[in-house]
Amino acid sequence: MGPSRVTVRAPAKVNLALAVGPRRPDGYHDLATVFHALSLYEEVVATTADDVVVTVEGLGAELVPLDDDNLAVRAAHALAAYAGVDAGVHLHLRKSIPVAGGMAGGSADAAAALVACDALWHTGLGRGELETLAARLGSDVPFALHGGTAVGTGRGERLTPALVSGTYHWVVAVADGGLSTPDVYGELDRMRDRDGGSVDPDCPAVPPRLLAALRAGDAEALGSTLANDLQDAACRLRPGLRDTLEAGSDLGALGALVSGSGPSCVFLARDAEHALDLALGLATAEVCGDIHRATGPAPGARVVAA
Ligand code: C5P
Repeated sequence: MGPSRVTVRAPAKVNLALAVGPRRPDGYHDLATVFHALSLYEEVVATTADDVVVTVEGLGAELVPLDDDNLAVRAAHALAAYAGVDAGVHLHLRKSIPVAGGMAGGSADAAAALVACDALWHTGLGRGELETLAARLGSDVPFALHGGTAVGTGRGERLTPALVSGTYHWVVAVADGGLSTPDVYGELDRMRDRDGGSVDPDCPAVPPRLLAALRAGDAEALGSTLANDLQDAACRLRPGLRDTLEAGSDLGALGALVSGSGPSCVFLARDAEHALDLALGLATAEVCGDIHRATGPAPGARVVAA
């Protein structure tokens, strides 16, 4: 008999670099990105059940769908279909990653559900098989499985591990209310159309200086090379984000960035103490909602109790 209850944790992500190519015929955009996992985790507790059901608690729980739109539910169905098992599961999601915040919370739920169901149902899939299922569920799901720091290409699902020295200290400023990822990509397309396409990188690439900074463990150099092509689009849809970013920079953050499609913003601190100062300063400035501190790189989806 195997476990009848499995708990899996999966991390939030931030894109340290996010270069976005032109819109493809399938509606997606080719990316060159550097994913970095943060120590802000979703926890999924999977227990045996007759059907696939989901319950949710924690940050933004009321915003999470409980039907087949839920990425964790879709992950369980996808794994059952792939492995040919006729099994159910109760997935209980404990959320700590902002919903629709640009930090891949839903993708972390999906990655955690894949790992949890694989353990609960004894399907014993290899890493490669889980990654293939993950890529079908969403562009960010493979990275939530992988964790650490990785270069992502394609729509973000093709990963190559990046070499990183040391640990980085981050402050996450959560906005009130989320942003829709397709809306932010759509706004970027509109901005580029207006600009006559001159800003389109046909072949997006990750800045070599950013990868060198990560290899060297140089937080200052990393802070000065953070870049996100979706940032201006997110700020157009949510102008208040500019105040949040500016406040963090004024407080001495080494770097300030919208996370993915936003609206969460992340700030790179010199060390743990500086992160605490930044968090307190941002709270005092009243330029955002909840504020979290986190470190990276963090591990990918893994069983923490069975
Ligand atoms: O893959 P995922 O379902 O997470 O993507 C959500 C949406 O984000 C897509 O429907 C698309 O509008 C946009 N997207 C994109 N290019 C990517 C990744 C996502 O345009 N590489």
